Amino acid sequence: VVTPVSDPFGRQITYVRMSVTDRCDFRCVYCMDEEMTFLPRQQVLSLEEIQMIAQAFTELGVTKIRLTGGEPLVRKEVTRLFDGIGQLPGLTDFCLTTNGSQLPKYAQALKASGVNRINISMDSLRSDRFHELTRTGRLVQVIEGIDAAIAAGFERIKINAVILKGRNDDEILDLVDFVRERGIDISFIEEMPLGVISEHKREETYCSSDDVREIIHSRYPLFSNVHSTGGPSKYWSMSDSDSRIGFISPHSHNFCGDCNRVRVTVEGKLLLCLGNENAVDLKAVVRRYPGDIERLKDTIVAAIAHKPEKHHFTTDGDVQIVRFMNTTGG
Ligand code: GTP
Ligand code: 5AD
Ligand code: SF4
Repeated sequence: VVTPVSDPFGRQITYVRMSVTDRCDFRCVYCMDEEMTFLPRQQVLSLEEIQMIAQAFTELGVTKIRLTGGEPLVRKEVTRLFDGIGQLPGLTDFCLTTNGSQLPKYAQALKASGVNRINISMDSLRSDRFHELTRTGRLVQVIEGIDAAIAAGFERIKINAVILKGRNDDEILDLVDFVRERGIDISFIEEMPLGVISEHKREETYCSSDDVREIIHSRYPLFSNVHSTGGPSKYWSMSDSDSRIGFISPHSHNFCGDCNRVRVTVEGKLLLCLGNENAVDLKAVVRRYPGDIERLKDTIVAAIAHKPEKHHFTTDGDVQIVRFMNTTGG
């Protein structure tokens, strides 16, 4: 067994989040601008390059990889990448974050490639509102996707809901009931200030996890006895259901102290923290020295020595990070 690489604060890096594409079939208001320009193909890592970077990380002691986007499942031939990563030795947790729209088509294949956990974003159960929040999404398609994932038999399925005051904060209990009926999990997320988003005003929509938890707790008493999945979510349980309720609270409960992760953007930048700009260009290394995995590993080890201690997000509407969530790997 490989000892994972540690950062200067003694945190072992065992989890990598990789953005597979910046493209998406949705345009969620908190994630993208209505008119997005996507990256030219040449700037984006090829599937082989992503695979090689994933391999380098697992050889450095990473045991958990999560593929994100954009929407990973809109990338052409993406199942090839899932099949490849699923076979990497040392990987014990292989996860996907998706908007769910393509799951009716891909759920079975993903299960077969070794994905064990899926997170599906769904912020509303009202189709008109769902369409407003995603600008292009159709709720029925996503619910079909969730049910396809349940049928495929993944170890755990989780819904992600970003809660925005005045837009979907009246649906918190409905969302909880939805996951209880299906025996799946849910995380409620505080919105983060990534990317310049024009018509959506973040300082007006902030909703703290504590407020969300209060609302749930008054209907379903919550117990904080649940083991972490090694991500930022803090989970709670209910006495009469297997569903777990998570809270991702970058503003109200900073979780950087036990951070175990780094990200690789779709352009091959190794980002040491979601909320900081420190990055190292892995694409340059992969393209300049094709196949030289040792050099890639050395670059990664050197980069981790510069991981910042924490992010400094605020809720006052300031954009601290100009990159959008979709290139970063939500
Ligand atoms: P697990 O790691 O498997 O527990 O899943 P997760 O809930 O972390 O992953 P998911 O992709 O569903 O992400 C949910 C939310 O957490 C997204 O909004 C992510 O951007 C956010 N998130 C994940 N890691 C970090 C992090 O290191 N810092 C911050 N600020 N947000 C993060
Ligand atoms: N703040 C918080 N969460 C976000 N997501 C996308 N953009 C943001 C943001 N600005 C969420 C998506 C998805 C997850 C990957 O990230 O809803 O569930
Ligand atoms: Fe697409 Fe996810 Fe961004 Fe929504 S949050 S636009 S589904 S990448």
